[in-house]
Amino acid sequence: MNGDDARKGLLISPIENGTVIDHIAAGEALNVLRIIGITGTTQESISVATNVKSGKRGKKDIVKIVNRELRKEEVDRIALIAPHASINIIRNYCVYDKKGVETPPFVVGIVRCPNPGCISNTSEPIPSKFQVQPKGLRCLYCDWLITKDITSHII
Ligand SMILES: Nc1ncnc2c1ncn2[C@@H]1O[C@H](COP(=O)(O)OP(=O)(O)OP(=O)(O)O)[C@@H](O)[C@H]1O
Ligand SMILES: [Mg+2]
Ligand SMILES: [Zn+2]
Repeated sequence: MNGDDARKGLLISPIENGTVIDHIAAGEALNVLRIIGITGTTQESISVATNVKSGKRGKKDIVKIVNRELRKEEVDRIALIAPHASINIIRNYCVYDKKGVETPPFVVGIVRCPNPGCISNTSEPIPSKFQVQPKGLRCLYCDWLITKDITSHII
């Protein structure tokens, strides 16, 4: 940790083992937790810092989860709302591994199509399927384009 991070340590104490999700767009940390299924009551030790100063991009959010590493499917979900996030695996207080997130080309079964008439919303056992496009998520069944607030459409 550099001097700047040492001062941030006043906000969030170091963890021995776990995951740091860093460089989350300012204000999105709670959505990141939601998108990986951490809502309401939880057993996990989690610290969240929002709107902290970041050298490169002005402000950012950070999430630290003790004793937990993320599955690939969870990292892919994070990419949908925090495309610049980095996932740091912490072991024995040090950054053991650091990876960026990669936006997946398709999102299957994670996001509900807002179109009530879409076949993915009928009683058919058809999972939703979206193509990730520069403007948003495009439903492959009905062509609906979700352009904002993807989190609110998470299943
Ligand atoms: N033991 C730890 N406990 C909690 N957070 C940690 C720990 N070690 C590092 N971090 C946090 O993990 C993130 C990545 O740490 P690193 O030391 O790689 O910082 P960095 O050089 O600023 O990385 P980057 O270039 O990705 O911003 C930082 O937000 C840092 O505060
Ligand atoms: Mg940094
Ligand atoms: Zn649809």
